[in-house]
Amino acid sequence: MSEMLTLALSKGRIFKETLPLLKAAGIEPIDDPETSRKLILETNQPDVRLIIVRASDVPTYVEYGGADMGIAGKDVLLEHPNAELYEPVDLEIACCKLMTAGKAEPTEIRGRLKVATKFVESTRRFYAAQGQQVDIIKLYGSMELAPLVGLADRIVDVVDTGNTLRANGLIPMEHIADISSRLIVNKASMKMKHAKIQAFIDNVRAAVVERSS
Ligand code: ATP
Ligand code: PRP
Repeated sequence: MSEMLTLALSKGRIFKETLPLLKAAGIEPIDDPETSRKLILETNQPDVRLIIVRASDVPTYVEYGGADMGIAGKDVLLEHPNAELYEPVDLEIACCKLMTAGKAEPTEIRGRLKVATKFVESTRRFYAAQGQQVDIIKLYGSMELAPLVGLADRIVDVVDTGNTLRANGLIPMEHIADISSRLIVNKASMKMKHAKIQAFIDNVRAAVVERSS
């Protein structure tokens, strides 16, 4: 059997925006993950399969070899600063910004700033770089709620249109990082399956260039 290439993806936004790039590289999944319950999706290419994992688990699968490659948001990658991975292509999809946000009407803050986020590592670095001591409160979602119920003074979250913040009476404050999704590659796979992975990288890179021209 020829060597298999496994690509880790998350459902939703990343899957939808990745499909055209895969198609341009000649790869089409046989099942649709939004309707199929399968976590391993075969493609039209017998030696390429897709695995469906949580967005925040993609770097873990790729670093430890559960997948040869993956597609992950830079926000997620920034939470894994020591991961042993290659990051060869910025796919320029799922673009947004990592930002701090708080209540639209200023409120008095006593003591240390309390910051609620699922992006603990980026948050810690951002405030440390400013020399500001803060208490970070780890959440897994619905961060916008935290300032409204007095759990935190600020949140750190990804912002695109700003609609979610606005709908909850919050405003974006400081810009932390520009975010887009990246192709990531396991280091051992890069050596062992070099020709196949390099061809995949070249095809995807060409598709990104083609799309932006
Ligand atoms: P998990 O399931 O692990 O909690 P998630 O729900 O954050 O992850 P998605 O909402 O599918 O996963 O987001 C995937 C990626 O898309 C994020 O890591 C981020 O890089 C990007 N992203 C998130 N929200 C937006 C948005 N509103 N606009 C554009 N890109 C976004
Ligand atoms: C993401 C993110 C923000 C929102 C920002 O949520 O968690 O809440 O998008 O986008 P906006 O600035 O355009 O409103 P998403 O829509 O992915 O839902 P999720 O909570 O399932 O991740």
